[in-house]
Amino acid sequence: MAQIHVMDHPLILHKLSLMRDRQTGVKEFREATREIAMLMCYEATRDLPLKEINIETPLAHAKARVISGKKIAFVPILRAGLGMIDGMLELIPAAKVGHLGLYRDPDTLKPVEYYAKLPVDIAERDVIVIDPMVATGGSAAEAISALKKRGVKHIKLMCLLSTQEGLDVVQKEHPDVEIFTAAIDPELNEHGYIVPGLGDAGDRIFGTK
Ligand code: PRP
Ligand code: URA
Repeated sequence: MAQIHVMDHPLILHKLSLMRDRQTGVKEFREATREIAMLMCYEATRDLPLKEINIETPLAHAKARVISGKKIAFVPILRAGLGMIDGMLELIPAAKVGHLGLYRDPDTLKPVEYYAKLPVDIAERDVIVIDPMVATGGSAAEAISALKKRGVKHIKLMCLLSTQEGLDVVQKEHPDVEIFTAAIDPELNEHGYIVPGLGDAGDRIFGTK
């Protein structure tokens, strides 16, 4: 079973608390989403392979290590995953970006795919799926399945908030997928919202409520 990393770094927790606060407006919410995504991206890419190159410093010849041209793609789940993409691209600007559109049916809470646009060589890339919320886990699990169907072999999942039951669903369906989450909240309410959570991430990022 791949690992679940709870990224409870003080900077991340501080920014997450800002996001949880109902008084926080769209601008600050967006900024915190972007900043946490960047901090989490740093950790989620810790295993990127390096190669050695020869360079000249102002003082001497030196061997130096650089990232060895690994092919990476980020796949945000629309809509809320979009809020995290800019922060990640700031760290890895050459990454390709695919989009998967899923919404939760409000009655069944089951994810419904409505859009998919992925890099043509997605099967050869290491993919990080991005979605701030893993509530029932249905959307994340479905997104990962959609990528596996297209031949993707190495997938990580990055979210901000999750529940243990949502993580269990993802892990049961996809035991090979490493998961990065900033916090695991205690429960879901009857509408499938994470409690205490931060509300509807898409609505808060885009100001639609
Ligand atoms: C939210 C969120 C996740 C999903 C999580 O999306 O962004 O994708 O719910 O819930 P789950 O783990 O129970 O599947 P939503 O359907 O609200 O769409 P939106 O991002 O367009 O607002
Ligand atoms: N989607 C959200 O945006 N928030 C939740 O709490 C659950 C699903």
